[in-house]
Amino acid sequence: MDTRFPPNFLWGTATAAHQVEGNNINSDIWLLEHVPGTPFVEPSGDAVDHYHRYPEDIALLADLGFNSYRFSIEWARVEPEDGFFSPAAINHYRQMLLACRAHGLRPMVTLHHFSSPRWVIARGGWADPATAASFARYCGRIARDLGDLIDSICTINEVNIAFLLSELGLLPSGIASRGEPPAFVIHAARALGIGPGDFHCFLYAATDRVRDVILLAHQNAVAAIKAERPALPVGMTIALQDLQAVSGGEAVRDTIRHRIQDVFLEAARGDDFVGVQTYSRERFGPDGKLPPEEGVELTQMYYEFWPEALEATLRYAHQIAGVPTIVTENGIATTDDTRRAAYYRRALEGVARCLQDGLDVRGFYAWSAFDNYEWSLGYRPVFGIIAVNRDTQERIVKPSARWLGEVARNGGF
Ligand code: BGC
Repeated sequence: MDTRFPPNFLWGTATAAHQVEGNNINSDIWLLEHVPGTPFVEPSGDAVDHYHRYPEDIALLADLGFNSYRFSIEWARVEPEDGFFSPAAINHYRQMLLACRAHGLRPMVTLHHFSSPRWVIARGGWADPATAASFARYCGRIARDLGDLIDSICTINEVNIAFLLSELGLLPSGIASRGEPPAFVIHAARALGIGPGDFHCFLYAATDRVRDVILLAHQNAVAAIKAERPALPVGMTIALQDLQAVSGGEAVRDTIRHRIQDVFLEAARGDDFVGVQTYSRERFGPDGKLPPEEGVELTQMYYEFWPEALEATLRYAHQIAGVPTIVTENGIATTDDTRRAAYYRRALEGVARCLQDGLDVRGFYAWSAFDNYEWSLGYRPVFGIIAVNRDTQERIVKPSARWLGEVARNGGF
């Protein structure tokens, strides 16, 4: 098939500060990594030291052929205490943006990617509407100080992540039960000087109240950014697996899809774009979620190898949100890089079919630029198109990076 993409199509890779920078010590996730009973298999430590190595990293991504780079600004660094904005941290991100510009990479910036400053959680976290106001203040500050160099902004990465994890039974054990909170919550709350019932971090809190605060935070952030930079495109990103119904599972699937996808897609309706982040599919029967289908290859995440999921979620996002989409994340965790290249080829064929049908898809960001810290799973799952020797921090380009970079350079394959 012809997979020509529009000339202005955004081709990039994505990272998140906590997963690549290293030593994000003022964040709630760092705290969670280090408390007794932590659900994280290992701490993030130096990660891939992107905080110091971004000049070479950005140059490498540009050399490979990409024209954009999606990275996140770490709120816990920019505002390490309530109301104190660090000029040094803001300048650090200014230098990153300048490096992107110098190499012809259009920067897409995410302002919240799972991790929050510790003080935010100590003050009620994502269950407190005051967090929406604090987040908007920080976003406005970034728009004011750095907006001249930013190409587009994702306010919050995967606004629905905790709801997805909760619905699919993937929250750490004990977190969703009404009984005694798990030890790690008790310890983390104690470290912050709050009670365990008041610990509401972004990744694990999945109540209606939290959903409302997150969506309010997005709305307030859009307003704060637009007040500073009216022309800067702003959206949020949503984790969208292709939710399939089999043998009469439609009603169950639709109910779950409403809770974990529709309410968030509907909230994106007035935005400049919505970020679609897709990795695989989930199947539902009349009794709920089904295990992976027999015979389908599994990735390191135990997801089905299902690159066609992206086409389905793009079509669904267009149907429900009705705004332009950007694939802000897509990828696969595998040690067999030939499977990664095969996955991207099939996923991109799906994007091309969407474009041929007239859907306004504006770009594609591979997750991830580097093998990095996969949250509670540590460094074992490898999503990168570039490997990293974490003893020496040497970058090793994989064949899939060369392939994808050439596709980006040529605008198709
Ligand atoms: C997140 C990334 C994560 C990736 C792979 C997305 O949910 O935005 O931070 O590493 O999926 O699991």
